[in-house]
Amino acid sequence: MAEELTEYSGPATMEKITSLAKRRGFVFQSSEIYGGQNGAWDYGPMGIELKNRIAANWWKEMTQLHDEIVGLDAAILMHPRTWEASGHVENFTDPLVDCKKCKTRFREDMVPEENLAKKTCPECGGELTDTRKFNLMFKTHIGPTEDNAGLIYLRPETAQGIYVNYKNIIQSNRMKIPFGIAQIGKAFRNEIVTKNFIFRTCEFEQMEMQYFVKPGTDVEWFNEWKKRRWAYYEKLGVKIDHLRWHQHGPDELAHYAKDAYDIQYLFPMGWRELEGVHNRTNYDLTRHTEFSGKDLQYIDQDNNNDRYIPFIIETSAGLTRTLLMLICDAYDEEKVADKGNDDDWRTVLRFHPVVAPVTVAILPLMKKDGLAELAQDIRNELKEDFATDYDQAGAIGRRYRRQDEAGTPFCVTVDYQSKDDGTVTLRYRDSMEQIRIPRAGLTEKIRQEIKAYKRK
Ligand code: GAP
Repeated sequence: MAEELTEYSGPATMEKITSLAKRRGFVFQSSEIYGGQNGAWDYGPMGIELKNRIAANWWKEMTQLHDEIVGLDAAILMHPRTWEASGHVENFTDPLVDCKKCKTRFREDMVPEENLAKKTCPECGGELTDTRKFNLMFKTHIGPTEDNAGLIYLRPETAQGIYVNYKNIIQSNRMKIPFGIAQIGKAFRNEIVTKNFIFRTCEFEQMEMQYFVKPGTDVEWFNEWKKRRWAYYEKLGVKIDHLRWHQHGPDELAHYAKDAYDIQYLFPMGWRELEGVHNRTNYDLTRHTEFSGKDLQYIDQDNNNDRYIPFIIETSAGLTRTLLMLICDAYDEEKVADKGNDDDWRTVLRFHPVVAPVTVAILPLMKKDGLAELAQDIRNELKEDFATDYDQAGAIGRRYRRQDEAGTPFCVTVDYQSKDDGTVTLRYRDSMEQIRIPRAGLTEKIRQEIKAYKRK
């Protein structure tokens, strides 16, 4: 087995990623004209395409490719008892300390040991308060009065929407154990530390799947889902030596978990959690039974109507965090010429074509002599099947660089020969190789290339 990488040594830095993301319309600071809103980000034209494609790819993997997994889109606002039952009101807290002098607030685990021991602020040397628990759930009010009767939370995980619907789904879709429910949606946490761009934010999106199994088979299913989730990232072409498992120790385990592993990714700032695979036991459904008074047992009609509360294996990935991971993973700088100027180097995002925001860009060599019209015509044909872009501005080399930097895997170039013999050039982003093919075969060729794509 290859030795595990200890630190990131690739070409990306968080500064480069943040700046490219803004320059190319992936991610903007929220409310930037007002100085920005901490913990929140906006996804621009390229960002929303990338995010939608990651979500669609995960959705296909989970639902279309698994006969026994169905989808759900539950509301963000849930009955407040949900969060008492789930344990979030009591346990979903971070330990906090405040500086009495400069008023800076710290998560206790981010304060250096010696400062904690002396109770001094690492910023200004002022006195630190005692540690107190800070609940990460955002509270708001529903209805016309702002009193406790209308208290409601923004969901801190999408999972609970699945648990409270599990009986509905068994009944409406005749599900039999083992089965899963998948959901993608927003979650909110009042995070104290929100650095590293979109890595940890107050508003984010999760892609969660809850798999309901018979007690006693949970360890087997837990191991199976660990395998499946690892294979998923392999299929997406993520650099395998940038992925590793991290098992939660007793002090890291969430209040609901019997066992938990994170898939960590080696970001430019180091190894960080990407996705969690959790054995949540029957904790959630048992608690919802107690708090709602409803019988949430599964009735096993194939086994003498045996009744039990299923165990739950959860796979929980951040959608926005996956987006950051894929940009970091795709980021490359490559020397392509020796001309002694900026054109020597290209920045390229080597996205897998199934997630690339634009799949194919159509570029006429010249605007004149009918080439632009022909290129537009080809674009109109290709856009029925692929996300396309059209660019006729500037030198062709520059236009290729722009597409490389946006991660577009294929460019179609239309030149004078195209007018004569109906052929075009297909350029590959990764190798920069170009081949000449008949226009009529483009759609099929691109489709095949996407299917056969392997990250070099
Ligand atoms: N339902 C289980 C659960 O929510 P978690 O480990 O707290 O577990 C799961 O979160 C995933 O959600 C994380 O692995 C991460 O990808 C993403 N995530 C959690 N908090 C986040 C935040 N503040 N900002 C962005 N993504 C976050």
